[in-house]
Amino acid sequence: MDSVTTGPLGPKHKATSRPSGPPSPEKPLAFSNAADDELRRIVEKYPDAGMRLLPTLHVAQREFGWISEEVKHLVAHRLAIPVAHLESVVSFYTMFHQRPVGRLDVQVCMSLPCALRGSGETWAAIANALGIAGGEITADGLFSICKVECLAQCDRAPVVQVNDEDHLDVSADRVKSFLDSLRNQTGDGKAGA
Ligand code: FES
Repeated sequence: MDSVTTGPLGPKHKATSRPSGPPSPEKPLAFSNAADDELRRIVEKYPDAGMRLLPTLHVAQREFGWISEEVKHLVAHRLAIPVAHLESVVSFYTMFHQRPVGRLDVQVCMSLPCALRGSGETWAAIANALGIAGGEITADGLFSICKVECLAQCDRAPVVQVNDEDHLDVSADRVKSFLDSLRNQTGDGKAGA
């Protein structure tokens, strides 16, 4: 059965930089003016500081591409919360990347219902087709892959999430057409091949 998507696939983010490593005292990381405006709107919308965390992290991930240590400190400072609290939230939600990712981050569910329906074979077929291992990015920057836990679509296993979109019934024999379809939707029919 065809995969189900919830919207057009585009670039996952427009990162202004790819920060890594510890915070730099010489050139501290900062949000762009556009992101700053967005963060101000979040403050207006959510008077409760705790409710601002998830939307602020979304802005940060879109801004910087992933949630590095430096980004964690920036967000924690901005929200006046302990970095440890932010760490627990970021590590709980797989939608937040604690590593650099490609424009299309392909996350394969490896929990039991998907495993019983062949997600291991799906994973191997994707890794083999892209020529990368988990946590790696294709040379063109288009794809990254990782394994994740249950994506709450168990009745349509194996399930693969690409950025924020779920793709259902992605069996190993569908992987080639699945990846081709992703490339075509990004207008990059040859990338990552
Ligand atoms: S086990 Fe894969 S979606 Fe639930």
